[in-house]
Amino acid sequence: MPAVPDRMPLALLPTPLQRADRLTEAWGGPTIWVKRDDLTGFGLSGNKVRKLEYHFAAARAAGADTVITCGAVQSNHCRATALAAAASGFACRLVLRSGDGSPPPTLEGNHLLDRLAGATVRFVDPDGYANRDAVMAEETNTLETGGAKVWVIPEGGSDELGMWGFVAAMAELADQLPRIPRSPVTVWHAASSGGTTAGMGWAIDRLGIDAHPVASSVGETAPEIRRRIDTIWTRAAEATGSALPGVDIEIVDRHVGGGYGIATDEELATQAEATALSGLLFDPTYTGKALHGLRLEIERGTYGKGDHVVFWHTGGGFAVFAHDFDAVLRDCAPGRDSGR
Ligand SMILES: Cc1ncc(COP(=O)(O)O)c(C=O)c1O
Repeated sequence: MPAVPDRMPLALLPTPLQRADRLTEAWGGPTIWVKRDDLTGFGLSGNKVRKLEYHFAAARAAGADTVITCGAVQSNHCRATALAAAASGFACRLVLRSGDGSPPPTLEGNHLLDRLAGATVRFVDPDGYANRDAVMAEETNTLETGGAKVWVIPEGGSDELGMWGFVAAMAELADQLPRIPRSPVTVWHAASSGGTTAGMGWAIDRLGIDAHPVASSVGETAPEIRRRIDTIWTRAAEATGSALPGVDIEIVDRHVGGGYGIATDEELATQAEATALSGLLFDPTYTGKALHGLRLEIERGTYGKGDHVVFWHTGGGFAVFAHDFDAVLRDCAPGRDSGR
């Protein structure tokens, strides 16, 4: 692998860095800035497309005509992969995890977009998903027997290749940081498969960026996320013949609530309030949960007035359309509906 691999432009970049003044005022703590990766595209919105730029470039260079990847039924990564494949002329096969291994009764949210983009899907139950790499290998074998040339993208696009999307993203933020009067700035973000955080840390180490990333886990334990980051860094260091990063990454796992994909009413209420105070859409699994975590940290005094926190908005908005907000909207939405 060359020091910096090739990328296929898919995302609309750079994304803006904006101050969220009403949210800042309402939460009474640090100045909150939002890095708008929800604007990397419409179908291609979110952090995943940045990683896919490197995977699709590698797939094309390898002569592939089909990509395969995996995730939960409402995976943003799978949706972005399906739409990126449609945009760049690849076929797309997805391995999706559902509760019992069968397709959900309604086609909604990201899963609907997967299908609209022409992706074909194999559903597996959680036990099957535990062996996702083997399932993808089996699918690859079948597709290649049929004449396809397949490029395998790991879960979340999080490996030593996808990581480069967030090395470049962090360099992009570095160009915007002079607008923020205080450093080092905290970069709060939702974390799961670790590729986003790994890229941020690599960039900070190599480029000397004055920022402190905080990975807010949406389900996994901090040691598990640390292990995922270390694996990506080790492979990237091997691939580039360079040293491991020595930066300090803070991983917070105290705000996972009910666990991966389970949003508590408090998280949903924070998400709804934040939308009403910013006009931005968040999602229950990732950005809504991470934002609620940030709010709790502000309440416990971790960040106060005078501090600046960049909330990296990693996208995920389509999941809003696959979630039931009834319980929280009855209580907390400003401007409730009336009959007339
Ligand atoms: C909207 C959103 N935010 C954050 C993440 C977490 O990123 P990573 O898997 O690179 O840790 C994901 C991953 O699926 C995501 O879809």
